Amino acid sequence: MSWHVLSPTSAESVQAEFALEVLTGLSERPKRLNSRWFYDDEGSRLFQRIMALDEYYPTDLERGIFEARGDELAERFAGRTLDVVDLGAGDGTKTFLLLDALRRAGAEVRYVPIDISEGAMASCHAACQEALPGHPFQGVVGDYVSGLRWLAQQDDRERLVLFLGSNIGNFDKPRARAFLRRIWSGLSKGDHLLVGFDLKKDIEVLLNAYNDSAGVTSAFNLNLLTRINRELGGTFELDRWRHYGTYNVFTGAMESYLVSLDAQEVHIEALRTTFHFEPWEPIHTEYSYKYLERDIESLAEVCGFDIEARYRDDRGWFCDALWKVR
Ligand code: AVJ
Repeated sequence: MSWHVLSPTSAESVQAEFALEVLTGLSERPKRLNSRWFYDDEGSRLFQRIMALDEYYPTDLERGIFEARGDELAERFAGRTLDVVDLGAGDGTKTFLLLDALRRAGAEVRYVPIDISEGAMASCHAACQEALPGHPFQGVVGDYVSGLRWLAQQDDRERLVLFLGSNIGNFDKPRARAFLRRIWSGLSKGDHLLVGFDLKKDIEVLLNAYNDSAGVTSAFNLNLLTRINRELGGTFELDRWRHYGTYNVFTGAMESYLVSLDAQEVHIEALRTTFHFEPWEPIHTEYSYKYLERDIESLAEVCGFDIEARYRDDRGWFCDALWKVR
């Protein structure tokens, strides 16, 4: 088998957690839903389409960084044997550039993608076979937490953990620290972590990236309601909601909301609960934090890593930071 599904993510327990988080999130004021629930198979497909948009720059920039600097990065691992652990791998295409560079540098690499969506894992496996035929592949289908627990239990091979594409941006600052420390605790001295950070930049660029003209980001956000309808027996009517993406200059986060267009009641069968929404009442669905170089440096420091290198695009819009366990 090319991947295994971790037991804590068995269908029922994911479902129970989803139900619990929808109940607690929609009972809070303001109402909120966690962005991790975007990524069912349909959500993962929609995110692939976001990555292909001109307005959504992070994916292209990170791919460009790997094309331009991948060999230089790989040289650091020349001749070594290591596991490349890819957290939230998606379809993995950017990572294949790194795997190929590592191969050229004479490193012996096993690819260990971890992703919550089994559909995304199947595409990742197929794409890996296509791009790098016969490349060692050990996928793990599970959420970050169970993936990291799995990682800590594996025999001690050298590791390079990837947390790419500014996935770190979905965590607020305290959660980002907690998460990186958790990665740190599963690693050994000398292991590496490569984190993709989206940097603070022109606000217009940010707003366009999260409010694309083709409406894919809107569909991605609304899919969360479709998922609640399908998996929890909800009665959300999608045309009574709008996507709204805005930038908070003070916290440095792009924030996404679903806004109720009128007064409405939504029943969710699995929760045996009806929720009331007032006209223009928002549900917060996502943060996407943008970083300053200085933030990245202090984050590495407080999480137990030394900064080995940073790789940025020419305009300084995106940064892949290579850290080493101190
Ligand atoms: C997958 C978390 C990196 O925050 O930029 C894209 C998700 N949301 N458009 C991001 C997303 C809206 C994306 N990450």
